[in-house]
Amino acid sequence: MAVAIRQAQPGDIPEVVEMINGFASRNLMLPRTPEAMAKTLPDWLVAVEREEDRGDVLLGCGSLVALTPELAEVRSLAVHERGQGKGVGSLVVENLVGLAKAREFSQVCALTLREEFFQRLGFEIVDRWSISPKLWQECIYCPKFHRCDEVAVLKYLTERRPEEANGSRSGQVNPLLKWQAWQPLKLAYSYKPIHLDEE
Ligand SMILES: CC(C)(COP(=O)(O)OP(=O)(O)OC[C@H]1O[C@@H](n2cnc3c(N)ncnc32)[C@H](O)[C@@H]1OP(=O)(O)O)[C@@H](O)C(=O)NCCC(=O)NCCS
Repeated sequence: MAVAIRQAQPGDIPEVVEMINGFASRNLMLPRTPEAMAKTLPDWLVAVEREEDRGDVLLGCGSLVALTPELAEVRSLAVHERGQGKGVGSLVVENLVGLAKAREFSQVCALTLREEFFQRLGFEIVDRWSISPKLWQECIYCPKFHRCDEVAVLKYLTERRPEEANGSRSGQVNPLLKWQAWQPLKLAYSYKPIHLDEE
């Protein structure tokens, strides 16, 4: 299978959104609208299979979102069922990491249910609350907000300073971030809704 990664084009939008929303309907990721994708098109990559007679056949997609000047997020990663398990998802993430480096971010993160997949690509699991609150901006739209099972993963794109290289930083507050900012959201997240039928 000849897979190419390229920047998304306007003509990709309907198929990409349909694929993402198919997975979203199974609670695997958040849905996207064509309008939102169109507004951020330069931040999207697609994986396609090049076929002479049919042109590009969509296999996967992913986007890079700037959370802070230092930190970018891999978002909306999806691979069509016809392309899964063949390295396409890994290729999309590697290219998004390359894009993050080219845009001079020093860290790239993701929220995922597939943490082992990201670990194989050099990401480490971190405390979700150590990442910029902007990572959580979208969470209020998620049906799983109060019972989130996603894991935060982070990859450093620049060399670590010697005092940071002993691994002790994992799970700790990210020094690049203003941790106070996420406290209200953390409280909201920890709040357990009370249902009338509960004792
Ligand atoms: C998660 C997802 C993006 C992974 O994409 P993918 O193309 O299947 O990923 P890869 O093929 O690169 O890697 C998947 C597995 O195949 C294995 N693999 C990689 N290259 C391979 C190859 N050439 N042949 C066989 N297996 C391979 C990898 O080791 C990996 O193992 P893992 O599942 O234990 O991590 C895809 O499954 C998906 O879109 N899922 C639904 C949407 C979703 O969950 N999105 C949110 C993701 S955070």
